[in-house]
Amino acid sequence: MKVLVTGGAGYIGSHTVLSLLENNYEVIVYDSLVNSSIESLNRVEKLTGKKVEFIEGDICDKDKLSEVFEQFTIGAVIHFAALKAVGESAKIPLSYYQNNVYGTVCLLEVMEHNNVHDFIFSSSATVYGEENDVPYVETMKLGTPSSPYGASKVMVERVLNDLALSDSNFRGVSLRYFNPIGAHESGQIGEDPKGIPNNLLPYVAQVAVGKREKLSIFGDDYPTQDGSCERDYLHVMDLAQGHVAALDWLNRHNDFTGVEAFNLGTGNGVSVFAIVKAFEKAIDKTIPFEVSPRRAGDLPAFWANATKANEQLNWHAERNLTQMMSDTWRWQSSNPNGYLA
Ligand SMILES: NC(=O)c1ccc[n+]([C@@H]2O[C@H](COP(=O)([O-])OP(=O)(O)OC[C@H]3O[C@@H](n4cnc5c(N)ncnc54)[C@H](O)[C@@H]3O)[C@@H](O)[C@H]2O)c1
Repeated sequence: MKVLVTGGAGYIGSHTVLSLLENNYEVIVYDSLVNSSIESLNRVEKLTGKKVEFIEGDICDKDKLSEVFEQFTIGAVIHFAALKAVGESAKIPLSYYQNNVYGTVCLLEVMEHNNVHDFIFSSSATVYGEENDVPYVETMKLGTPSSPYGASKVMVERVLNDLALSDSNFRGVSLRYFNPIGAHESGQIGEDPKGIPNNLLPYVAQVAVGKREKLSIFGDDYPTQDGSCERDYLHVMDLAQGHVAALDWLNRHNDFTGVEAFNLGTGNGVSVFAIVKAFEKAIDKTIPFEVSPRRAGDLPAFWANATKANEQLNWHAERNLTQMMSDTWRWQSSNPNGYLA
C-alpha cells in the first residue's frame, strides 16, 4: 500500500517514514522543507535500504497536490505538515491558521476529489485545553488551548468531525501526541530545530554540546512535586510506531467510517528537573541552568490516559527515559549542527 506522508521530512515524520518502510508500506513524502532538510530522508533510505519518493511542495498548493494524487495510487494519508512553534503562533496567527487549517482543508479536498478516504492526523494533547482534568481521556470535550497553534489543532479536529458527518466514506484517525523526544537509536536521524529550540530536549542537548550557554527552566513554583512543569514524554520511535499501529487498525477495520481519536503517551508525568537530571546521568556531564519566570500559557502538569491506544491499536510506549536520553545524545553528539554538518 502507498502512503502519502505530508511533512515527512520533519522530526516525527522522518521517524514514521522509517517505521512505515520497515513495515513494508511504500512511502511518498510531500514536504515544503520550510522546517526540515531533505537529508533526513536520505538517511532514512540508507538506514532502511528502501526508496522514499519525495515531492517538494506546499499543502496549500492544490494543483501540485492534485498532480501527486494523479501520479500515484495512494491508499492513505498521514498528515504531519504544520507549523508548530507555540510562541511564534501568537506573533503570526494568520500564518498558522493558513498553513495548519487552510492547508489541511486543501489536502482533504484533493483527497475527496481523488476518492482517498483514509486519513491520519497529527493532533496534540494541547486540544484538551485548560478546562480538562488530568489524565486526559479521549472522551473529554475539546478544550480551549491558549495559543493559535493549539487552536489550529482543535479546528482541524472539528473539520474532521464535520467531514465525517457529511461523507460516509471518510475514515479519520486523530493521534493526540503528548511530548515526543529522543531520536532513532542509530543516531542518524533526530530533531533538528532551525534557530533557537522551542522544546526542552533539543535545548538541553544543545547546551550539552556547547552550542548554548545554559538552559532556562520556566518556573519552579508550580503545584507539582518539585515545582517545575510535568509532561508525558514519549520516545519518538514509539510515536512513529503508533502511526503504523493506527494504519494497521484502519486496514483491519474495513467497515469503520467516521473519526476516532487516540492519545499517544506513556501515561506518566515527568518534571523538567527530572529530565535534566536524567540527561546529565546519560551523558555524565552537568547541564548549567537558570530558573526563569513562568511562560504564559504553560500548564503545570498533564499526561495521557493511553488505555484506548493500548487496547484498540495494540500500541504501548515501550522505551524508557534512559533510552530517550541516550538516543537524543547519540544524535546530538554525532550531529552537533544537525543535518547541515
Ligand atoms: N513535536 C511535538 O512536540 C508535537 C506534539 C504534538 C503534535 N505535533 C504535530 O506533529 C506534526 C509534526 O511535528 P514535528 O515535530 O515533526 O514538526 P516538524 O516541523 O519537524 O515537521 C513538520 C514538517 O512539515 C513541513 N511543513 C510545514 N508546513 C508545510 C506546508 N504548508 N506544506 C508542506 N510541508 C509543510 C515542514 O517542512 C516539516 O518537515 C505537526 O503537525 C505538529 O503540530 C508535534
